[in-house]
Amino acid sequence: MTKPEHIAIIMDGNGRWAKSKGLPRVAGHRAGVKTLRKLIEHAVKLRLNAITVFAFSTENWQRPEKEVDLLMDLFISALESEVEDLHKNNVKVTFIGDRSAFSSKLQNSINQSESLTINNNGLSLNVAANYSGRWDIIQALQSVASEIKSNTLAIDEINELQVASKLSLANHKDPDLFIRTGGEQRISNYFLWQTAYTELYFTETLWPDFDSTQLELAIDWFSNRERRFGKTPEQVAQTQNQ
Ligand code: IPE
Ligand code: IPE
Ligand code: MG
Repeated sequence: MTKPEHIAIIMDGNGRWAKSKGLPRVAGHRAGVKTLRKLIEHAVKLRLNAITVFAFSTENWQRPEKEVDLLMDLFISALESEVEDLHKNNVKVTFIGDRSAFSSKLQNSINQSESLTINNNGLSLNVAANYSGRWDIIQALQSVASEIKSNTLAIDEINELQVASKLSLANHKDPDLFIRTGGEQRISNYFLWQTAYTELYFTETLWPDFDSTQLELAIDWFSNRERRFGKTPEQVAQTQNQ
């Protein structure tokens, strides 16, 4: 069975989960953190290589101030309570996105979790926070433009590899499996460039209810995809038989 090397997840549906139980939205976010914790434990057991979760999009700042504040508090408390266990499990934590918009307290927690786990070589857990796919492409273009300005790069040297090397997670393979919980079938400004050939898996399950069985279902679904990358099925079969 082919395991995905890099899974990108949109953890969606916390608010609706809470609402269905007559609870405030923040209760859904709290339950969502627990789900993520269990999912990471399972991913470590399955010896998965990399998972990147969408925790907060650049558009999520538009939510009511109270919800945004509670989410920021939750990020800090979750990092503080989980980072030791993540470290013990050999998980390497990395954040992507523009962290400069966060409070200095949150930035400190982020930096500390990254530096504590930087030499771990088990699961890579990447957290997209204040991230968006368009932001990522823009910051990559800025970096390319500054190299051109300083004459270290010529315009005709700009190619796919060049641009990709400036994107967040340039050291990772593009996600091969994308999972979105909560029933919506859209990308919501998550990875754009990197999902060119990603297999897209959508489930109605709300994020707090997503468990290890659900993860394995998604991985099984992935392993049954024929990844052709533009070739014909016959060509794919030929390379598999070689
Ligand atoms: C995802 O759940 C969590 C974040 C965006 C931070 P939602 O909060 O979007 O939950 P729904 O989609 O309203 O149910
Ligand atoms: C996407 O979920 C962002 C995160 C899960 C962090 P949203 O709930 O914000 O997406 P939309 O607004 O339904 O597209
Ligand atoms: Mg949502």
